Amino acid sequence: MARNDTIFERFLAPFVKTFLIDEDKLRRFHESIDWQAASTRLSDRTLTYPTYYSSQNFHGIEGGYLNVSAAVSYDPITQYALPPGEALVRQSLLDAIQSQPRRILDLGCGTGSTTLLLKQAFPEAEVIGLDLSPQMLVVAEHKAEQANLAIQWRHGNAEHTHFPDASFDLVTASLLFHETPPTVSQAILRECYRLLTVGGEVVILDGNQKVLRQTEWLTQIFEEPYIQAFASGSVDAWMGAAQFEAVQTHDRWLIHQVTRGVKPLPYKAVEFSLPTYAAAAGDRPWVSS
Ligand SMILES: C[S@@+](CC[C@H](N)C(=O)[O-])C[C@H]1O[C@@H](n2cnc3c(N)ncnc32)[C@H](O)[C@@H]1O
Repeated sequence: MARNDTIFERFLAPFVKTFLIDEDKLRRFHESIDWQAASTRLSDRTLTYPTYYSSQNFHGIEGGYLNVSAAVSYDPITQYALPPGEALVRQSLLDAIQSQPRRILDLGCGTGSTTLLLKQAFPEAEVIGLDLSPQMLVVAEHKAEQANLAIQWRHGNAEHTHFPDASFDLVTASLLFHETPPTVSQAILRECYRLLTVGGEVVILDGNQKVLRQTEWLTQIFEEPYIQAFASGSVDAWMGAAQFEAVQTHDRWLIHQVTRGVKPLPYKAVEFSLPTYAAAAGDRPWVSS
């Protein structure tokens, strides 16, 4: 028999009950968007999804991020998932930025919460948010329009963005690496290196790996398929392996961490040759005869 309950009843209502979310607001938002049209418009049809991404449920949602329920429920849930408060945690990424970037790329931007803050902090900069999920990008685009912020949204894979070399002076990723296998996080950092100009910064905000390693229950709450592998690694070491310098990780609010690195001048061995002087005696008065 065909089911006649809506996506809202089937998938979103359980979140509303569990997380004390304003059901009317969520329902109005869900119904205000033509999801099919908007996600088709934002989709790159040539993109092939990596298996680690399309084969997994994230946060217990079937189909992971490639569906409307994940996109609509993401912000209402995330506000409770980042103690001591979402704004403070996201601000810690902004506080780590030491330059005045003119071109900024936010990888795995999701619904664009950090991307919007970057544009607000650097209004003159060109800001691009990139994500594998068209549905998440639909929410991001909607939020940017509401906030009157000019941000470009790009459907793409952070491992291979197809932007030219050295086209950004800041690349960020918030809450992305605990959602990707460590080999993918490392590939993304190599891509960040390629994308940055010399002196450009990479800033990664995520769960505190040291703390997650010791608190297994924390890695189990949100049904994240790769979080334990993330916890056993080190973003700091991965950044070093990707050739970043001045790499530093700071703990933020105990359970989060921010890692920053800089793309150094390329190393090039240079042979210095000293000029040869005529050996006439008068040329070298310091040489005793
Ligand atoms: C937990 S959300 C974080 C979203 C956002 N950055 C934030 O701070 O709220 C992880 C996001 O990463 C995206 N993602 C995962 N793997 C990706 C990849 N290889 N390339 C681009 N986006 C990816 C997912 O679609 C999802 O939107």
